[in-house]
Amino acid sequence: MPNLYSDNIIDEIREKCNIVEIISQYIPLKRAGRNYKAVCPFHHEKTPSFMVSPDKGIFHCFGCGAGGNVFNFIMKYEGLEFPQVLRMLAKKTGVKLPATSTFSKEQKTSGDLFQLNEMAASWFTNNLKKEIGQPAVGYLKKRAYQANTILKFRLGFAPDNNGLLNFMRARGVQDGLLEKAGLVIRRETGPYYDRFKQRIIFPIFDSRGRILAFGGRVLDNSMPKYMNSPETPIYNKGSHLYGLNFAKEEIKKQDFCIIVEGYIDLLTVHQSGIHNVVASLGTALTPHQIRLLKRFTHKVVVIFDADKAGEMASLRSLDLLIEEDVNVKVVSLPKGEDPDSYIRKSGKEEFWQKVVKSFDLFDYKLNLLSQSYDMDTTEGKVEIARHMLPTIHRVDNAIRKSAYVKRLAQEFSRGEKTLGEEWILTELRKVKRDFESYTKEEFTKVEIKAKRPAEEMLLRLSLEAEEMVVEIKRHLSLEDFQDLRIREAMRTVFRLHDKGELLNEAKLISCLASEDTACLISRICSLEKEFVNQHKSLIDCIGRIKADNLKERLNKLQRQIKVAQSWGHKDKIEVLVGEYNSLIKRRGKKT
Ligand code: UTP
Ligand code: MN
Repeated sequence: MPNLYSDNIIDEIREKCNIVEIISQYIPLKRAGRNYKAVCPFHHEKTPSFMVSPDKGIFHCFGCGAGGNVFNFIMKYEGLEFPQVLRMLAKKTGVKLPATSTFSKEQKTSGDLFQLNEMAASWFTNNLKKEIGQPAVGYLKKRAYQANTILKFRLGFAPDNNGLLNFMRARGVQDGLLEKAGLVIRRETGPYYDRFKQRIIFPIFDSRGRILAFGGRVLDNSMPKYMNSPETPIYNKGSHLYGLNFAKEEIKKQDFCIIVEGYIDLLTVHQSGIHNVVASLGTALTPHQIRLLKRFTHKVVVIFDADKAGEMASLRSLDLLIEEDVNVKVVSLPKGEDPDSYIRKSGKEEFWQKVVKSFDLFDYKLNLLSQSYDMDTTEGKVEIARHMLPTIHRVDNAIRKSAYVKRLAQEFSRGEKTLGEEWILTELRKVKRDFESYTKEEFTKVEIKAKRPAEEMLLRLSLEAEEMVVEIKRHLSLEDFQDLRIREAMRTVFRLHDKGELLNEAKLISCLASEDTACLISRICSLEKEFVNQHKSLIDCIGRIKADNLKERLNKLQRQIKVAQSWGHKDKIEVLVGEYNSLIKRRGKKT
């Protein structure tokens, strides 16, 4: 993390924080020797592989590889940026942050962006009152939106004349800030122009009603149909739900939430008087969105376009909801209909009936599958089971799970009575095994191990005693480290050592720019192995790294020599062979 504050103040705050005390405010920790253990909050697991070391001031999960110091934990858990976490912990520990820090500048930028979006939204809505906006007014009328709805959702219009850019410039707004807000774009160093042209504008609000971004729809059939703001300092795609600010009270009251896909669907459902509705904006639901929703309810009704209903991909996103312990029901609409068109044709009552009578995800999926596979044959049943079992496996509640197994067996009792409850249970156990190896596999992909164990070991040693750093520096340079994360960490170790600063795990992590590196360090430092003979280990590792590097250098030279030979470059061959021989000689001397 690029530190906007002096290292001193960051150190002071971190040192005043008791990592065990702070993490235990989020998740229950259990003592295990000198450390603490917990079920990891960052991935799905049943047995704890998440560890906190109070001595080192770090946490690490051996399951998913997440790790770091107390700052990293809160950043990850709360989805906050470093400066926000720092400010929070400063308050908690009573450390005063200097007022002139860059933090206030960053805060100011996001404040500026919200303000800018607010100004832009007013300009967009105002266009509906002007001559130039009449086609948009006509379009909204054609789609039967009432003035109230248009006002509430602050719909607007972006004409095709760079009007927004000019409007903002006239008010002294810098082009750069507009670009940051995603409102204008340019090609390379060409002139800026408005991002949204000739489109109906939908402001995207956060759950508190601040404008984060915009979406824009064309008035005709041109493509792309919708255009959205890019990611900005205040807008992350997939971490918001459109309409949540208007829906949250009603969601709590009804204790369920309807999820639709698009802007238009949301507006129509809302206008019809059903207010516990949000839109995912065309993407599969993300874990972030699910967690956001869980603050208000654990029950959702998902509405699919009929054409998309058969896609197993969208069903997989529902499995994700199940995993997050959300109760999922599904409405499928007649072919070719979405909530907007359905309400227009059949009315609100019909739509509400569909919602009320929505299918449990289990039945919905089973029903879909039985349309694709023949339930009366053994092969068909096996196929259906193959799709159903992963869903059942994800259900955490044992009673619900066994009810599903029974139900599936019941369905299977049709036709050839070959696959009973016993068979399903056996298969379910297989799925469980697959899942476990699958998740393990998925996590090793995180690559939390260093490329070479010796590099990892040296980093650990450098944290054990100061003399170790001196030795490492004497024998190796940063380029000798192949793993870029280790190299970054060693660079910091050297730097702090040069400055004569005290070094420890949590501090090192604070100084590192990338989360990947932080996770690697926390893992290395959480390993239990103690060194029997530090100095001998050090010498071994250094020797190992040198030998490996030499070997790689020789291999590379060999390859280069071959290429040079194939081209007949005599001079080059001579130089390369000379270098090769002198390396071989040097190696010979040492051993
Ligand atoms: P749809 O194509 O289903 O559009 O996209 P819609 O909501 O039914 O709109 P109308 O009725 O044709 O006017 C659903 C959602 O997917 C996202 C938008 O959020 C849209 O509301 N989307 C779609 C895009 O972001 N870009 C696109 O080009 C298309
Ligand atoms: Mn539509």
